[in-house]
Amino acid sequence: MTKLRNYPTKDPVLVTCGLPYASGQMHIGHLRTYVPADVFVRLLKKLQVDVTFVSGSDTHGTPILTISESLGISPKELYTKYHNHYLETFPKLNINFDNYGTTDDKENVDRTLQIVKEWQKNDYIYAKDLETPYCDSCGRSLPDRFVRGTCPHCSVDARGDECDQGCGRYLEPGEILNPRCAICGSPTRPVTRTHYYFKLSEFEGFLKDYLTNVDGTKNAKNFALGWIKEGLNDWCITRDLEWGIPYPGDEDLTIYVWVDAPIHYISSTEQWAKKIKKPKEWEKYWKPGNGRIVNYIGLDIVHHHCIFFPAMLKASGYNLASAIVASGMVKIEGHNFSRGRGYVVWVIEDYLDRGLDPDYLRYYIAAYTSQTKDLDFSWDTFAEKVNNELVATLGNFLYRAVHFTHKHFGEVPKGKFDSKLKKELETAIDTITDAVNEYELKKVADEVLRIAAVGNEYFQSQQPWKLVKEDKKKTGEVLYNALALSKALAIFIEPFLPSAAETIWGQLGNDPTSVHETLLKDALIPPAIGVKLSKPAPVISKIDEELLAELKQIISDRVTTASAAQSGEVELKLAPIKDTITFDDFQKIDLRAGKILKCEKVKGKDRLLKIEVDIGTEKRTMVTGLGHLYKPEELEGLTGLFLVNLEPKKIGGIESHGMILAVERADKEGAWVPVKLDELPPGSKAA
Ligand code: MSP
Ligand code: ZN
Repeated sequence: MTKLRNYPTKDPVLVTCGLPYASGQMHIGHLRTYVPADVFVRLLKKLQVDVTFVSGSDTHGTPILTISESLGISPKELYTKYHNHYLETFPKLNINFDNYGTTDDKENVDRTLQIVKEWQKNDYIYAKDLETPYCDSCGRSLPDRFVRGTCPHCSVDARGDECDQGCGRYLEPGEILNPRCAICGSPTRPVTRTHYYFKLSEFEGFLKDYLTNVDGTKNAKNFALGWIKEGLNDWCITRDLEWGIPYPGDEDLTIYVWVDAPIHYISSTEQWAKKIKKPKEWEKYWKPGNGRIVNYIGLDIVHHHCIFFPAMLKASGYNLASAIVASGMVKIEGHNFSRGRGYVVWVIEDYLDRGLDPDYLRYYIAAYTSQTKDLDFSWDTFAEKVNNELVATLGNFLYRAVHFTHKHFGEVPKGKFDSKLKKELETAIDTITDAVNEYELKKVADEVLRIAAVGNEYFQSQQPWKLVKEDKKKTGEVLYNALALSKALAIFIEPFLPSAAETIWGQLGNDPTSVHETLLKDALIPPAIGVKLSKPAPVISKIDEELLAELKQIISDRVTTASAAQSGEVELKLAPIKDTITFDDFQKIDLRAGKILKCEKVKGKDRLLKIEVDIGTEKRTMVTGLGHLYKPEELEGLTGLFLVNLEPKKIGGIESHGMILAVERADKEGAWVPVKLDELPPGSKAA
């Protein structure tokens, strides 16, 4: 029975990777997208497929802006720094994109505008008033990550754009319940503004058909088909935010980051085409035709790639992905990935800077478990895999075969390819090809290790170290076959361990880098007799026990430090409670209701307002720091609570005779209501 296979294929294949947000360092969670994609690309090349590999940095929206603001730098400064970090780090892991741009590049801005205008032209967009949260304390609208609240689906505390700690659902603007400002923790009030909607609901039928037939991993399809069953709402594609691509026709708004981010898959391909001086070449993938697109992503962004992106492409006449491959999430020693709680492993600081070999991490990420399962990272299992599989099985065979032959022959000896061994390699190529078609790299790795084990058995059973004392010719024939297996293994391991493959390829007497151009089927051709071998050294070495202990310590220290600090995204730095005061002390405080008669700005001081207060006995002048929260006319006429026996103090050049303690707040109709203290997180200062 012959199986239907998508690969090998004569059609060109474009592989894309979910773009990292250029707002922080690369961690091993990211690698669950990039490593399997890179291994897959290398395997396709070994199947003689014409393949292009692109990604880029995601630079817009609140994921960038919340962080650049917290660091006090511009979003461009932030993304430039981390874009360069990603550009430099990928090659260190032997992850080699044909193009890696940013979503802020001109090609991406142009392509995004072209696509949005196409939707407008095709009547897929309409305007609608939308109520979104506004923070008076920060004086801004709160899209996406600027707001936290309660998930309307599962009631867990969630981020404005995604239920990040509960059901994982995508959340539309205005959907989150009990919104509060993610920056200062204040309660919010709703403001209404016209936004622009993409008619996603019209694509339900199309998406159902598309997802039923699309290739890739089942997890992606099944989740998305489930959401469609629940019914799709139209999609708000604009944000009241200053950072991003201005929305054509209403330039005060910007386009939602999840519109221009996946469009970078197209513009990154355009950049690649320009680079290779064939500016139209990108069209072979994105214009309808036989070009194939494979999206590598993590399970957290399935909604965007299985619902939004296909509808976006369909609405503007572009080619759709032929496969969506979603990985399970990386966890750290059993815990969900979380920078805040210290469950994170950084690629540079924790791995490369400690002198660890990038190949081992690639192998672990790609070969540890099924693509669709969560991957629980632990240094112990990492060391186990390296020591038992790479060193004891693979490395051991390769070293013995090449070392023994080099010592006794110095070159590839005469021999005949054992038909049983050749059959094993044919089976291996078949199994590997099947596994590529299933996007299951663990199956590929398991098969490679099986061949290494076959090699060890062969070596052991032929006992060349004894044979060499009796029959050198026969020994040569055995070693010829051992080298044939070594050559095959060098080819097979190249997608996972590109550097180790180069080394072993060189030891076998070849130009080391040419191993990257070898095909899977070359594994069936034994090495040429008489080729000189170079002096071998082990290609893989054990993880040192001391280093292993250190690595484990780093995580546990990080977790301890993090749990000592405040957890969660809204860090309210609460001041410690002051020393107890006596009742007599309290009696000294004179609190009075007072009516604000007049209020005006203090010149040159944004935050200061001068108020004239009627406290019954007299009129007082006071200065308050509420200027960033209220316009002067909003405070006039209000009644508040005042501390009236505080010693006078000059504030902003004006002598203040008392202090305002609590004011009222405007609701959306403009009526005045008291501050709702129960909406504030415990411990926040009320006034
Ligand atoms: N910028 C978006 C993707 C836009 S795609 C048009 C994003 N960025 S990310 O930096 O958070 O993630 C980049 C890639 O790494 C995504 O494919 C994501 O799924 C993957 N991972 C990031 N952390 C992960 C884990 N802890 N585990 C597995 N993969 C996750 O999402
Ligand atoms: Zn939820």
